[in-house]
Amino acid sequence: MEEVGRIFGDVGLGQFSLSLTRPIERGDYLAVEDELHGRVLCQLDDLKRKSDLDLEHAGQLTPADDGVVHENLLGEARIIGYRDEQGLVKLPTMPFRPGARAYRAEEPLIAEVLGLKHHTNTGAYVGLLRNHNLRVELDINQLVQRHVSVLAKTGGGKSYLLGVLIEELLRHKVTCVIIDPHGEYGSLRNPSEKSGGPRFGVQAQGFARQIHEYSPDVSLNPGAKPLTFSLRHTDPRDLLVFMGLTNVKTFLGPLKEIIERVGATTPDFTVHDLVRAAEATEGAAAETLHERLEYVEQTKLLGPVGTSLNDLVQKGDATLVNLRGVAPDVQELVVARLATTLFDNRKKEKIPPLFLVIEEAHNFAPQQGAATCSRILKNIASEGRKFGLGLCVVTQRAARIDKSVLSQCNTQLILQVTNPLDLRAIAQSIEGLTAGMTEMIQSLPVGTALITGGGYHTPLFCEVRPRATRHGGESVQIVAA
Ligand SMILES: Nc1ncnc2c1ncn2[C@@H]1O[C@H](COP(=O)(O)OP(=O)(O)OP(=O)(O)O)[C@@H](O)[C@H]1O
Ligand SMILES: [Mg+2]
Repeated sequence: MEEVGRIFGDVGLGQFSLSLTRPIERGDYLAVEDELHGRVLCQLDDLKRKSDLDLEHAGQLTPADDGVVHENLLGEARIIGYRDEQGLVKLPTMPFRPGARAYRAEEPLIAEVLGLKHHTNTGAYVGLLRNHNLRVELDINQLVQRHVSVLAKTGGGKSYLLGVLIEELLRHKVTCVIIDPHGEYGSLRNPSEKSGGPRFGVQAQGFARQIHEYSPDVSLNPGAKPLTFSLRHTDPRDLLVFMGLTNVKTFLGPLKEIIERVGATTPDFTVHDLVRAAEATEGAAAETLHERLEYVEQTKLLGPVGTSLNDLVQKGDATLVNLRGVAPDVQELVVARLATTLFDNRKKEKIPPLFLVIEEAHNFAPQQGAATCSRILKNIASEGRKFGLGLCVVTQRAARIDKSVLSQCNTQLILQVTNPLDLRAIAQSIEGLTAGMTEMIQSLPVGTALITGGGYHTPLFCEVRPRATRHGGESVQIVAA
């Protein structure tokens, strides 16, 4: 084992300081021999060059002094632990001795303590442990049962990483529904044209047969099938949500009355029939209902026969809900109606367990104000796991997404984040994040993610594997190269 330094100063039970004799990187793994428990895995959290050169002397240095300044490389490390006989991760109960040697950790120790397993039946292979050739596989059951968030600044690589995750879910025949506001995920049909290189061992592969694309606007998105919802199967309470009316006490009675009246003469009634009936009804409530029903009619989302749920959600496949070019208020309506339908039918077990992905989630479950779909997304975040409905929220603004939704996500995939408000929101919603890790998030290169949860007891840095499919979110070139 390669020795990298010695422990010095006051040694704690969770962390210690090191005088480093070899340059190692922040985030690298170390091993320290414990008298009772053998090798213990640790991680370098911070690095500093210490010298006694002060401001005054620094100003007096001449070229002849180059290289004579005495310095020490100081490291701060945290202890991750060792596996005991039962396979549990434990921390030593006595601090390491000052003067003890620290080594660069070898891969078998890292894999054992972190719990990295290869080619498991339930693992989604998302990349390699940073600076190592150890596969990082996320436990698919944990992902779907305990919700996921993907957080990074714009251009940080969220959609790319989500593409990797969806590829893995499709390989494992996990049913997915993806709310795709930019129409980026259709490219999952096509194999990647770029070579991923031998390190990651990824073969190009398309998933055309497992992708079903729907859109409320097929004139803008001609590759998609039309998405509409059945008026007859929309409960009057849900119709009120659709109409943007929150005052149920005032409006539910009059709306039910109008629906009953229209239904008695026209069994296959349309929204237009309801508009006319509301228009012909006296009173302030009917007037508001008339105005809001006209709005709903304009969205063209509710028809007498909606898209069949059995066509929309197919076991083991991914459904893309392409919202490209659709007005933001209509996007919210689509998500509200769809998420409600999926949750209701999941409760009745009429559809398979599934993973619901919400891209640009800060627009659909905002921290400030409310979107039409906020309430149902909060419900799914807090109760979905009981019914096999996993939620994955993707956002470039961690501070702007509803805190209760974010804190329900037990797996976080974090790429580069620089906005201080977003960093604070992330630090508040994740346990076990050290100050050093929070600093590292600000300078993560594109393609490196900090993963917490996903079956791992400690956060780890992962180099995201190349895509097997084409990435659809390439930046638009404004000036030709
Ligand atoms: N792991 C990776 N390997 C190689 N290239 C990557 C990787 N991740 C991202 N990129 C590249 O970085 C660019 C931005 O990635 P991506 O579209 O995923 O960003 P994003 O976080 O979804 O941005 P936005 O918030 O604008 O949607 C893309 O052009 C993509 O090709
Ligand atoms: Mg994106």
